[in-house]
Amino acid sequence: MASPPPAVLADDTVVLSELAPVAATLMERHLARSREWFPHEHIPWSRGTDFEIGEESPTDPAPNAAVQSALVVNLLTEDNLPYYTHAIASIVGGDGIWGAWTRRWTAEEDRHSTAIRDYLCVTRAVDLRALERARMAQLSGGYEATHAPSVLDLFVYLSLQELATRIAHRNTGAMLDAAGADVMARVAFDENLHFLFYRDLVTHALERFPAETVAAIERQVRTFEMPGTAMPGFNDHARRIAAAGIYDVPTHLTRIVEPTVLRDWGVEQLELPSGPADDLRERLVEFIGRLRRVVARLQERKASAQQ
Ligand SMILES: [Fe+2]
Ligand SMILES: [Fe+2]
Repeated sequence: MASPPPAVLADDTVVLSELAPVAATLMERHLARSREWFPHEHIPWSRGTDFEIGEESPTDPAPNAAVQSALVVNLLTEDNLPYYTHAIASIVGGDGIWGAWTRRWTAEEDRHSTAIRDYLCVTRAVDLRALERARMAQLSGGYEATHAPSVLDLFVYLSLQELATRIAHRNTGAMLDAAGADVMARVAFDENLHFLFYRDLVTHALERFPAETVAAIERQVRTFEMPGTAMPGFNDHARRIAAAGIYDVPTHLTRIVEPTVLRDWGVEQLELPSGPADDLRERLVEFIGRLRRVVARLQERKASAQQ
């Protein structure tokens, strides 16, 4: 097997200072596009009643197991926010535009768990005692962002992750009642604006630091996983979510990797000097090709199971 190309890493301080004016413009655009919303105005409070101590939920009839799994995973992922803010702030720092953006982003992210939890408490759509135990276990265990060896890696990872979250929230909402769909659509709208901020930051990084940014994209696409994999029962939840088509490998390929990496960032067409970065681009395109073959096999298997 060929040995991997050497790492191509940019100096984080240089990247942050060079990209600061772009981040300022993107934050202005973000503020102009974002819409103020109030989580409590989207919760169907009249459907709620008091809980007895020890009362069992979900109610009967409950959403199917896949939808319950998606709601639990989506919410626990949002609940991890203190660790994300800590991880991001420790990489980009708290000064200037980077600190201002991280604080605004945190304020927006913080309403997501509020909105989703309020909806679940009112509708009793999942086992709320199990949910609370899982939240305690997950947050007590902590979360370390081991996937970001550089600022550029962080921006690439967040682009992919924000888009994945938008899609997961929207697809979950599509399987809920009107109130649930509305809550998830509001959250997904925020996630989309976060995605656009990071995606366009990476687009500019590709112009200014093409070799280092391609290296970061290659690393992040190859190793991508959602931040909630340490939550209790994640594998079972993920299996159910994939089987229901809420989030699966085909979704990951066709709605995240291909549109972002190939179309928006155009990595195949980038002018790169021959050398490590060009080798990494080739490795990235090969990886996407392998992912396509996996998806084709999965679809064949699904089609033959339905015959
Ligand atoms: Fe969020
Ligand atoms: Fe977000």
